[in-house]
Amino acid sequence: MSVSPVSSSPLPSPAAAAPTQTELLDFVRRTAADAELIASLPLDPEGRTWVRLTGPGGSEAWLIGWPPGTGTGWHDHADSVGAFLTASGELKENALAARLPTDGWRTLELTDGVDRERRLAAGQGRAFGRHHVHEVLNESPDRHAVSVHAYYPPLPRIRRYSRSGQVLRLEQVELPEDWQ
Ligand SMILES: [Fe+2]
Repeated sequence: MSVSPVSSSPLPSPAAAAPTQTELLDFVRRTAADAELIASLPLDPEGRTWVRLTGPGGSEAWLIGWPPGTGTGWHDHADSVGAFLTASGELKENALAARLPTDGWRTLELTDGVDRERRLAAGQGRAFGRHHVHEVLNESPDRHAVSVHAYYPPLPRIRRYSRSGQVLRLEQVELPEDWQ
Protein backbone atom coordinates (compact mmCIF):
# COMPACT_ATOMS: atom_id res chain seq x y z
CA MET A 1 0.00 0.00 0.00
CA SER A 2 1.36 3.39 -0.92
CA VAL A 3 0.56 6.61 0.80
CA SER A 4 0.60 9.90 -1.07
CA PRO A 5 2.32 12.69 0.72
CA VAL A 6 -0.09 15.38 1.80
CA SER A 7 1.06 18.88 2.48
CA SER A 8 -1.00 21.74 3.80
CA SER A 9 1.57 24.38 2.89
CA PRO A 10 1.00 26.22 -0.38
CA LEU A 11 3.33 25.66 -3.28
CA PRO A 12 6.06 28.26 -3.45
CA SER A 13 5.26 30.89 -6.03
CA PRO A 14 7.99 31.96 -8.42
CA ALA A 15 9.48 35.19 -7.09
CA ALA A 16 9.71 36.98 -10.41
CA ALA A 17 6.48 35.81 -12.03
CA ALA A 18 4.84 38.44 -14.18
CA PRO A 19 1.56 39.69 -12.70
CA THR A 20 -1.48 38.28 -14.46
CA GLN A 21 -4.38 40.35 -15.76
CA THR A 22 -6.40 39.09 -12.79
CA GLU A 23 -3.75 40.28 -10.36
CA LEU A 24 -3.62 43.67 -12.03
CA LEU A 25 -7.41 43.92 -11.82
CA ASP A 26 -7.32 42.91 -8.14
CA PHE A 27 -4.72 45.61 -7.53
CA VAL A 28 -6.70 48.40 -9.22
CA ARG A 29 -9.84 47.29 -7.36
CA ARG A 30 -8.10 47.32 -3.96
CA THR A 31 -6.43 50.64 -4.73
CA ALA A 32 -9.68 52.28 -5.86
CA ALA A 33 -11.24 51.26 -2.54
CA ASP A 34 -8.63 53.34 -0.66
CA ALA A 35 -10.72 56.48 -0.24
CA GLU A 36 -7.88 58.47 1.30
CA LEU A 37 -5.57 57.75 -1.62
CA ILE A 38 -8.25 58.56 -4.19
CA ALA A 39 -9.00 61.85 -2.42
CA SER A 40 -5.28 62.75 -2.46
CA LEU A 41 -5.19 63.09 -6.27
CA PRO A 42 -5.07 66.77 -7.27
CA LEU A 43 -7.92 67.55 -9.68
CA ASP A 44 -7.63 70.18 -12.40
CA PRO A 45 -10.72 71.34 -14.31
CA GLU A 46 -8.49 72.14 -17.32
CA GLY A 47 -6.90 68.76 -17.88
CA ARG A 48 -6.12 65.28 -16.69
CA THR A 49 -3.93 64.75 -13.65
CA TRP A 50 -1.72 61.76 -12.80
CA VAL A 51 -0.03 60.28 -9.77
CA ARG A 52 2.34 57.34 -10.22
CA LEU A 53 1.76 54.35 -7.95
CA THR A 54 3.76 51.22 -7.25
CA GLY A 55 2.00 48.33 -8.94
CA PRO A 56 2.33 44.65 -8.06
CA GLY A 57 5.17 42.55 -9.45
CA GLY A 58 7.02 45.45 -11.04
CA SER A 59 3.99 46.71 -12.96
CA GLU A 60 3.41 50.36 -13.73
CA ALA A 61 0.40 51.94 -12.04
CA TRP A 62 -1.29 55.31 -12.17
CA LEU A 63 -4.07 57.22 -10.54
CA ILE A 64 -5.70 59.44 -13.16
CA GLY A 65 -8.15 62.33 -12.80
CA TRP A 66 -10.47 63.09 -15.72
CA PRO A 67 -12.28 66.43 -15.89
CA PRO A 68 -15.66 66.41 -17.65
CA GLY A 69 -15.32 65.99 -21.40
CA THR A 70 -11.76 64.63 -21.49
CA GLY A 71 -10.57 61.45 -23.16
CA THR A 72 -7.52 59.61 -24.40
CA GLY A 73 -8.18 59.19 -28.10
CA TRP A 74 -7.72 55.78 -29.70
CA HIS A 75 -4.56 53.97 -28.62
CA ASP A 76 -3.18 50.66 -27.45
CA HIS A 77 -0.45 49.66 -25.03
CA ALA A 78 1.42 47.46 -27.52
CA ASP A 79 2.80 44.39 -25.75
CA SER A 80 1.67 45.30 -22.24
CA VAL A 81 -1.38 43.81 -20.58
CA GLY A 82 -3.30 45.92 -18.12
CA ALA A 83 -6.33 46.69 -16.05
CA PHE A 84 -8.18 49.80 -15.04
CA LEU A 85 -11.13 50.59 -12.81
CA THR A 86 -13.21 53.66 -12.08
CA ALA A 87 -12.80 54.86 -8.51
CA SER A 88 -15.26 57.77 -8.71
CA GLY A 89 -17.49 59.26 -11.37
CA GLU A 90 -18.07 57.24 -14.53
CA LEU A 91 -15.89 56.44 -17.52
CA LYS A 92 -16.79 55.11 -20.92
CA GLU A 93 -14.56 52.77 -22.87
CA ASN A 94 -14.87 52.36 -26.63
CA ALA A 95 -12.89 49.30 -27.68
CA LEU A 96 -12.32 47.07 -30.69
CA ALA A 97 -13.16 43.41 -30.34
CA ALA A 98 -10.85 42.60 -33.26
CA ARG A 99 -7.23 41.67 -32.82
CA LEU A 100 -5.22 43.90 -35.13
CA PRO A 101 -2.06 42.94 -36.98
CA THR A 102 0.85 43.90 -34.75
CA ASP A 103 3.03 46.01 -36.98
CA GLY A 104 3.69 46.91 -40.56
CA TRP A 105 0.50 48.78 -41.38
CA ARG A 106 -0.52 52.44 -41.38
CA THR A 107 -4.22 52.24 -42.14
CA LEU A 108 -6.67 49.47 -41.57
CA GLU A 109 -10.32 49.18 -42.53
CA LEU A 110 -12.29 47.71 -39.65
CA THR A 111 -15.06 45.26 -40.35
CA ASP A 112 -18.55 46.07 -39.12
CA GLY A 113 -19.48 44.88 -35.68
CA VAL A 114 -16.07 45.15 -34.02
CA ASP A 115 -16.99 48.11 -31.83
CA ARG A 116 -17.65 47.53 -28.17
CA GLU A 117 -18.83 50.13 -25.72
CA ARG A 118 -18.97 49.89 -21.96
CA ARG A 119 -19.75 52.25 -19.18
CA LEU A 120 -17.70 51.83 -16.06
CA ALA A 121 -19.34 53.30 -12.98
CA ALA A 122 -17.44 53.59 -9.70
CA GLY A 123 -16.16 50.16 -8.68
CA GLN A 124 -16.30 48.79 -12.24
CA GLY A 125 -13.27 48.04 -14.35
CA ARG A 126 -11.73 45.61 -16.74
CA ALA A 127 -8.51 43.82 -17.58
CA PHE A 128 -7.17 43.69 -21.12
CA GLY A 129 -4.63 41.73 -23.12
CA ARG A 130 -1.85 42.79 -25.46
CA HIS A 131 -2.74 45.06 -28.38
CA HIS A 132 -6.10 46.01 -26.87
CA VAL A 133 -7.21 49.06 -28.88
CA HIS A 134 -9.45 51.47 -27.01
CA GLU A 135 -10.27 55.00 -25.99
CA VAL A 136 -11.41 56.06 -22.54
CA LEU A 137 -13.59 59.10 -21.94
CA ASN A 138 -15.36 60.98 -19.19
CA GLU A 139 -18.55 62.01 -20.95
CA SER A 140 -20.09 63.63 -17.90
CA PRO A 141 -20.91 67.31 -18.46
CA ASP A 142 -20.14 68.26 -14.89
CA ARG A 143 -18.46 65.53 -12.90
CA HIS A 144 -14.81 64.58 -12.51
CA ALA A 145 -13.88 60.90 -12.72
CA VAL A 146 -10.92 59.21 -11.06
CA SER A 147 -9.52 55.84 -12.11
CA VAL A 148 -6.69 53.45 -11.28
CA HIS A 149 -4.57 51.78 -13.99
CA ALA A 150 -1.87 49.10 -14.00
CA TYR A 151 0.27 47.81 -16.87
CA TYR A 152 2.78 45.01 -17.27
CA PRO A 153 5.42 45.08 -18.63
CA PRO A 154 5.84 48.61 -17.27
CA LEU A 155 6.50 51.67 -19.41
CA PRO A 156 4.66 50.34 -22.42
CA ARG A 157 4.85 51.74 -25.88
CA ILE A 158 1.67 53.63 -26.68
CA ARG A 159 0.48 53.48 -30.27
CA ARG A 160 -1.90 56.31 -31.09
CA TYR A 161 -4.52 56.08 -33.80
CA SER A 162 -6.92 58.40 -35.53
CA ARG A 163 -10.23 57.04 -36.61
CA SER A 164 -12.52 58.10 -39.40
CA GLY A 165 -15.55 55.86 -39.76
CA GLN A 166 -14.20 52.33 -40.09
CA VAL A 167 -10.67 53.43 -41.02
CA LEU A 168 -8.06 53.34 -38.31
CA ARG A 169 -4.76 55.09 -38.98
CA LEU A 170 -1.60 54.71 -36.93
CA GLU A 171 -0.47 58.25 -36.13
CA GLN A 172 2.30 57.96 -33.60
CA VAL A 173 4.23 55.56 -31.41
CA GLU A 174 5.16 57.07 -28.09
CA LEU A 175 7.98 55.70 -26.04
CA PRO A 176 8.21 56.23 -22.29
CA GLU A 177 10.83 58.94 -22.73
CA ASP A 178 8.30 60.96 -24.75
CA TRP A 179 5.99 61.33 -21.79
CA GLN A 180 8.39 61.94 -18.94
FE1 LIG B 1 -5.25 52.75 -22.52
